[in-house]
Amino acid sequence: MPVLDVRDLKAYYITDRYGRISRVRAVDEVSFQVHKNEIYGIAGESGCGKSSLLKVVSGLSKPPLRILDGEVIYKFDDNELNMLSLKDDKQRRQLRGTHISSIPQASMNVLNPVKRIEKSFQDFVSVHFEINNKAQFNEMVREHLSALGLDWDIMHAYPHQLSGGMRQRVIIALATILKPDIIFADEPTTALDVVVQRGVVQLIKKINEEQHNTIIMVTHDMAIHANLCDRLAIMYAGKIVEEADAHTIFHDAKHPYTTMLLKSLPKIGDESERESAPGAPPSLVDVPPGCRFHPRCPKATELCCKEEPQLIEIEKGHRVACFHEGGSR
Ligand SMILES: Nc1ncnc2c1ncn2[C@@H]1O[C@H](COP(=O)(O)OP(=O)(O)O)[C@@H](O)[C@H]1O
Ligand SMILES: [Mg+2]
Repeated sequence: MPVLDVRDLKAYYITDRYGRISRVRAVDEVSFQVHKNEIYGIAGESGCGKSSLLKVVSGLSKPPLRILDGEVIYKFDDNELNMLSLKDDKQRRQLRGTHISSIPQASMNVLNPVKRIEKSFQDFVSVHFEINNKAQFNEMVREHLSALGLDWDIMHAYPHQLSGGMRQRVIIALATILKPDIIFADEPTTALDVVVQRGVVQLIKKINEEQHNTIIMVTHDMAIHANLCDRLAIMYAGKIVEEADAHTIFHDAKHPYTTMLLKSLPKIGDESERESAPGAPPSLVDVPPGCRFHPRCPKATELCCKEEPQLIEIEKGHRVACFHEGGSR
């Protein structure tokens, strides 16, 4: 049973500059399902549409990002609702308060510098939950921090007194205090050094185990996905090009783009040189015809330059969009 079912989602940045309309095809016919209690990763180079996809799915998109088509269905208990048909901000906020929560990109700098962390917690919680009783609030925060292995003392600190890694943990603690069913995390480890990254990855795992919730994790960093995710979608130029369980992605990837991404990863004992992905992703204003990856693909044929391969299931749970892997038009 999926908790999130995204169908044929299409969202473009549409801007009008002096009568010249530009369309950035950031999310182009994207479909995927996420199941209860799993950690679902979304990977791909910068600019491929990961953050835009998260914004639309979590109900945070705003102009110039426009939703042109598709459905975003959430299923909680026996309740089913389509995020895109919610009429107003109030309904969206309600859904976000009770069921879903986001850790946005570059969020560790959003803590108010002149407020102690405790005040940020009070402000966040009071938006969704009435705090009548300070002792009860303190108890709730204390329990949550202790479950996450964080020290109560951080509540009295100002953001600048905490390291970047600690600020990111505070943001994660904030985003999870109301025990949401689904958490969207956008590059939560990107600004941190590798040692601190490990702590943040462990924290996310712990939340998933303790709260039995679902986590959708976006990062361009394949090493983080390898350590964290149950299943993984690879995005290229606004589309999902491959999706499978993490083991299959790392050991039996089929899409040439996935293979290219993995080649840039270091492996213990492997002395051969790392290869960075050659070429650059296309502009999403002017996407190549056919398979969007064909200009960089070592396997590209005439068909790939003309027709667009669909994302199809080649074995159970493994979807690929490539003519060389049984892809269809
Ligand atoms: N406000 C905006 N207006 C126009 N284009 C945008 C805007 N924000 C992002 N984009 C473009 O949308 C595409 C996808 O961006 P984004 O979703 O941020 O990618 P990612 O998170 O994978 O790095 C990029 O080409 C980016 O330049
Ligand atoms: Mg991003």
